[in-house]
Amino acid sequence: MASLTEVAIAILRENDRGTYTVPTKGLYPFQWNWDSCLTALGQRHFDEDRAWLEIETLFAHQWPCGMVPHIVFHQPDDGYFPGPDIWATNRPVPTSGITQPPVAGFALKRLYDLAKDRQTATARARALLAKVAAWHRWFYATRDPAGEGLVAIIHPWEAGRDNSIDWDTPFERVPTEGIAPYTRRDTQHADPAHRPTKAQYDRYLWLVEHFRSLNWDTAKLHDASPFQVVDPGFNAILIRACADLADLAEALGDAALAAENRSFAAKGQAAMESLWSERDGQYLCRDRVAGALIESASVGGLLAAFCAIPASRAARIAASIDRHGTRFPVASHSPQDPRYDGKRYWRGPVWLVVNYMIADGLARAGQEDAAARISAASLDLIRESGFAEYYDPQTGEPLGGGRFTWTAAMVLEFLRQEG
Ligand code: DGY
Repeated sequence: MASLTEVAIAILRENDRGTYTVPTKGLYPFQWNWDSCLTALGQRHFDEDRAWLEIETLFAHQWPCGMVPHIVFHQPDDGYFPGPDIWATNRPVPTSGITQPPVAGFALKRLYDLAKDRQTATARARALLAKVAAWHRWFYATRDPAGEGLVAIIHPWEAGRDNSIDWDTPFERVPTEGIAPYTRRDTQHADPAHRPTKAQYDRYLWLVEHFRSLNWDTAKLHDASPFQVVDPGFNAILIRACADLADLAEALGDAALAAENRSFAAKGQAAMESLWSERDGQYLCRDRVAGALIESASVGGLLAAFCAIPASRAARIAASIDRHGTRFPVASHSPQDPRYDGKRYWRGPVWLVVNYMIADGLARAGQEDAAARISAASLDLIRESGFAEYYDPQTGEPLGGGRFTWTAAMVLEFLRQEG
């Protein structure tokens, strides 16, 4: 029987399209932003050169304003909706017009730190450094217009947690009237009961059409969006990426970039505390339009541990995860909440990438036991249920797409930590 490592590598190879990797055949036939950066961390275990290329390809499609789009449509594929004609972003190679969690800075530092080929790593990291820094600058310039230190997402797809319960209330403000008729393709590849609903898709598309009507001018979209949410998980990723990029810039001798990113991280870190909920024992999203925290104990608030939160907060987050009491941690929403749905995408299921980032953050904050529990349970889940997109936290049932790229990449990372 093939080992976990062998299967993981086989999946990464079979989803490899030469210069980028698709998340899974059929359901997601293009290059996705945070998928790719986390995929590179898996690829580095067997092909360092290929790992660098994955991130380089993504950044070759960075917009002049600094934004790195959430999808790059390298080749036409009718099996996915909404495709390039709906986005209509007018780029040399078509891309979407929104962004995704900026894990690149973190991935870049990790690739660099652990690379065996030091010379190549230095040259390739140096070439990517300014591009990642431009993306970070873009975030704080366009998504934090009041300079509070935290950025907002303007579309749920930006968080990657498409149908999280976090968005239910702010989504009530997004209309659905006037959108063009459409046919979903995702529900032809995956069980519709495990995917977002039609009511959510209508709103995803309304936002896309609205931003398209503004010619994808990224300087205007934040203020023009009825959906502006400050997500602690998204901000934690950005803050961590800024801190990591600052370290990397220092190592590569770029003091100005190091200082700039250090200051983004420090300001974000301090502002993050405004999202803490003592009652929930975790951070919460803030609806920036309504000016209020969103009562929704999702994994976004646990993922906050990925940046350097105070030790007392990390301890509460570890306790909150234990309190979930699911067979497999970390549920993407608290099972104690009546809105929890263990099979529907981001309303309950476990995702390995999120487990990886939470475990990494908790270990750094001194919560080694909790981190080890999450890592061990993640591997148990794969041994029992294979390499799916996500899983039911109670039963371990594999859900969504199969032979999933970033799941395989995270398995290689978890196995390495296990030694
Ligand atoms: C999808 O199509 O489901 C993606 O999550 C959007 O990026």
